Amino acid sequence: MKANAFLVVSLGCLMAAGAAAQNAGPKPYENVKVIPKSTPRAETTELMKHFTRALGVRCSYCHVGEEGAPLSTYDFGSDAKKEKRTARYMLKMVHGINARYFADEGTPSVTDMRRNEVTCYTCHRGSTEPLTDRPKD
Ligand code: HEC
Ligand code: HEC
Repeated sequence: MKANAFLVVSLGCLMAAGAAAQNAGPKPYENVKVIPKSTPRAETTELMKHFTRALGVRCSYCHVGEEGAPLSTYDFGSDAKKEKRTARYMLKMVHGINARYFADEGTPSVTDMRRNEVTCYTCHRGSTEPLTDRPKD
C-alpha cells in the first residue's frame, strides 16, 4: 500500500517535470516551409514587420484573423489565404536571388531583410502591386 502510494506520487512528479520541460522552450512553429524551424520568434516578428511595411498592409492581409482583434486570436499557421501562399513563394524567390547572386559573404539569411540585398521592398515599395513599368514594345 505504502509502496504504491509512493509510486503514484513519484510518477506524478515525473509527469509534472515532463510538462515543465515541454513548456520551457519556445512554442514550435506550426507551418513554416521557407524560414528555418529554429528561427527565434523575435526574428520572425521582424521579418513579418518587414512584410507589412514593404507591402503597406497589416498582419490580416496574409493571416486568418480579425483586424483590430488581439494577435493571440489569429491563426498564424493557417495557409487559408492565398496572399500568404503568394508571400511564401515570394520569400523563396527573394532568398533564391540573394543566395545565388549576392552570396559574397556566405549564404545570406532567409529572415534578415536588413542584411539581404534584395528585399520585398525592392519591388513592392510599400504597395501590394509593384510597378513593373514595362517599356512600350
Ligand atoms: C505578406 C504576407 C504576410 C504578412 C503581411 C504577415 N505574414 Fe506572417 N507569415 C507569412 C508567411 C508566408 C509565413 C510562413 C513562412 C514560411 O512558410 O516559412 C508566415 C508565418 C508567420 C508566423 C509563423 C506561424 C507558424 O507556422 O507557426 C507567425 C507567428 C507570423 N507569420 C506572424 C505575423 C505577424 C504578427 C504579422 C503582422 C505583424 C504577419 N505575420 C504578417 C506571411 C505574412
Ligand atoms: C523581383 C520583384 C519582387 C520582389 C523582390 C517581391 N515581389 Fe511580391 N510581387 C511581385 C510582382 C511583379 C507581383 C505581382 C504579380 C502579379 O500581379 O501577378 C507580386 C505580388 C505579390 C503578392 C500578391 C499581391 C496581390 O495583389 O495578390 C504578394 C502577397 C507579394 N508579392 C508578397 C511579396 C513578399 C512578402 C516579398 C518579399 C519576401 C515580395 N513579394 C518580393 C514582385 C516582387
